[in-house]
Amino acid sequence: MDKSQHPAEKVVNQAAWMQKDTTNPLIVSEAEMPVPNDEDIIIRNHAVAINPVDWKIQAYPSFIGTFPFILGEDVAGEVFQLGKNVTKFKQGDRVIAYVEDGSISLTLGSLTWWVGRSHLNQLLTQKTPDGGFQLYSRTPAIRAAKIPASLSYVDGSVIPLALNTAAHGLYGTGEGFLALPWPSLQPVDSGKTILVWGGSSSVGALAIQLAVGSGVKIVAVASGRNHAFVRSLGACDVVDYNASNVVEKILKAVTSAGGAFAGIYDAISTAASFQYVLPVAEKLGTGNIAIVNPPPTSSVPSHIKFGNVIAVNDVSGPLWESYIPAALEQGQLRPAPEALVIGEGLESIQKGIDMSKAGVSARKVVVQL
Ligand SMILES: NC(=O)c1ccc[n+]([C@@H]2O[C@H](COP(=O)([O-])OP(=O)(O)OC[C@H]3O[C@@H](n4cnc5c(N)ncnc54)[C@H](OP(=O)(O)O)[C@@H]3O)[C@@H](O)[C@H]2O)c1
Repeated sequence: MDKSQHPAEKVVNQAAWMQKDTTNPLIVSEAEMPVPNDEDIIIRNHAVAINPVDWKIQAYPSFIGTFPFILGEDVAGEVFQLGKNVTKFKQGDRVIAYVEDGSISLTLGSLTWWVGRSHLNQLLTQKTPDGGFQLYSRTPAIRAAKIPASLSYVDGSVIPLALNTAAHGLYGTGEGFLALPWPSLQPVDSGKTILVWGGSSSVGALAIQLAVGSGVKIVAVASGRNHAFVRSLGACDVVDYNASNVVEKILKAVTSAGGAFAGIYDAISTAASFQYVLPVAEKLGTGNIAIVNPPPTSSVPSHIKFGNVIAVNDVSGPLWESYIPAALEQGQLRPAPEALVIGEGLESIQKGIDMSKAGVSARKVVVQL
């Protein structure tokens, strides 16, 4: 934002719209300027990240109750306007946020996740100011964090949704969740070990980093080309899921890591991961598997419990208040996987969604605005 510009001055917002359920590519045109509620901030977005959920909703638009609709969850930019009760930020602060609010039921396959009034995006509020793929987005101040001057908007934008998703599985305390200790800037050895399947994915990369902050040892699974990356995040051992004897290799790595096995974070949660994750869980005698997609349809041993992770959760709230800005400042939390800038301007977002759908390896697709 131009520093001399005041919110009262006329600004023009633009968005990448889904005008109706068949809209593809997204249509860029003018959008209403978001108005903050008392606890909200308005962010002038300078970078937005693309998540698999964006292509999934575009492909299966039955989630959307009202058109036109604005996709997008991860934003990074400057605080443009403050709700009257917001003291945490000032105009011009550099922030990352996930854009959120509301209450909705999400049905994925046979699974329905009921979400209370919590986080995320226009998917929940069905209100266009709360979508991410626009120049100005609205979000509650409690779901945003300042970023250090050294962190670019592009890099910062890769964090929010993946962090929320990782945090729910790791810190949730209900059935199937891993209930780890909260992360700290001075991690204390918790004596626990976990398995993160899909360590090079966006969600997996955040799960590893948060778990390191929780003083937990992490055995990760990723393809061989990403082993150095996954180790750099803090995994003590990595197994290649394309190799032979995957289950045996994981069991050996977990045994070598030592500690009490606290569960599995399956950041992929498809048949491709379940075929290994379930035997590993059975052999380790563990019950808790945090999953990011619907559970397997095959029958599983009764001691195995799935924690249905959803990015839109209230578990991550305390992290946004203090841990995230401090951990970013100190480098304990770093933007990973690396941003892949697909283009500039809202017109590039469809290209980014298409690239996310085609699949990425240890990269997160970002558009600069
Ligand atoms: N429930 C929720 O609220 C929620 C929230 C966010 C995401 N999700 C879901 O979580 C999943 C991951 O999202 P994301 O953004 O993290 O994805 P992503 O970064 O786009 O995933 C790409 C990564 O997946 C890895 N991968 C692919 N197949 C694999 C396999 N069989 N085993 C291990 N790794 C594999 C690849 O690793 P290699 O290149 O190393 O092979 C690649 O680095 C998606 O299905 C997404 O829809 C759910």
